[in-house]
Amino acid sequence: MLQKYLNKIICGDCIEVMQQLPEQSIDLIVTSPPYNLKNSTGNGMKDGRGGKWANAKLVQGYSNYDDCMPHELYVLWQKKCLKEMMRILKKDGAIFYNHKWRVQGGLLQDRHEIIEGLPVRQIIIWQRSGGINFNPGYFLPTYEVIYLIANPHFKLAPKANAHGDIWQFKQEMHNPHPAPFPVHLIERIISSTAADIVLDPFMGSGTTAIAAARHCRNYIGIDISPDYCRMARERVAEDKKQLRLKFAN
Ligand SMILES: C[S@@+](CC[C@H](N)C(=O)[O-])C[C@H]1O[C@@H](n2cnc3c(N)ncnc32)[C@H](O)[C@@H]1O
Repeated sequence: MLQKYLNKIICGDCIEVMQQLPEQSIDLIVTSPPYNLKNSTGNGMKDGRGGKWANAKLVQGYSNYDDCMPHELYVLWQKKCLKEMMRILKKDGAIFYNHKWRVQGGLLQDRHEIIEGLPVRQIIIWQRSGGINFNPGYFLPTYEVIYLIANPHFKLAPKANAHGDIWQFKQEMHNPHPAPFPVHLIERIISSTAADIVLDPFMGSGTTAIAAARHCRNYIGIDISPDYCRMARERVAEDKKQLRLKFAN
């Protein structure tokens, strides 16, 4: 039943695609949803002019998704996505759910509304090399969070515990997708588990698939954008080619 999805990038809505997957069939989910950045009290991201964000690729937005929902609807949508992820996760599986806290109307908007009620075991801090939000009201934000949401029997691979809970990885600069993961960050996550089947329901440019393939794991990727699905397939194929060349020499 799951076989036909393995090592495929599927173009579609992640909830609809996940609904086709059997219960308790996935070992590991690694994902970063859209952050609802266009629904913002800050002017730059909201109206697309950029302002302090002028150099951010995300000002142009995603190719098939406007990233602008009323906050309450966004929270409900993300809760629904996570509920579906929990349904298909094995009893010893885990979700690494990356998100970003931000200041809205002068107050911290952390993401507890989305993850409350879920078995959150740990928050990993992903320290990036720098931020772009130079607001005189607060210090420059330089990190994102990764919620480790774990089913009861989830365990790390031997020695992975030593990585600690603050991880430094520079953001990816050479990727045409507006919000890609750095591949090494996802390699850190995947290699820290014994997962065989890794799902990313917001696959974007295919970073999770590349990391999974590098570690000889199976992947399933989903994205709503045909452009990003094409990009992901091309990136996975190119990475495999480069690896083959490296080992041939
Ligand atoms: C933060 S990006 C993920 C980037 C990815 N981690 C990477 O390394 O390239 C979020 C992605 O969610 C996709 N997306 C938005 N709505 C979606 C939906 N309903 N189902 C599946 N994908 C969706 C967007 O097209 C975008 O590529």
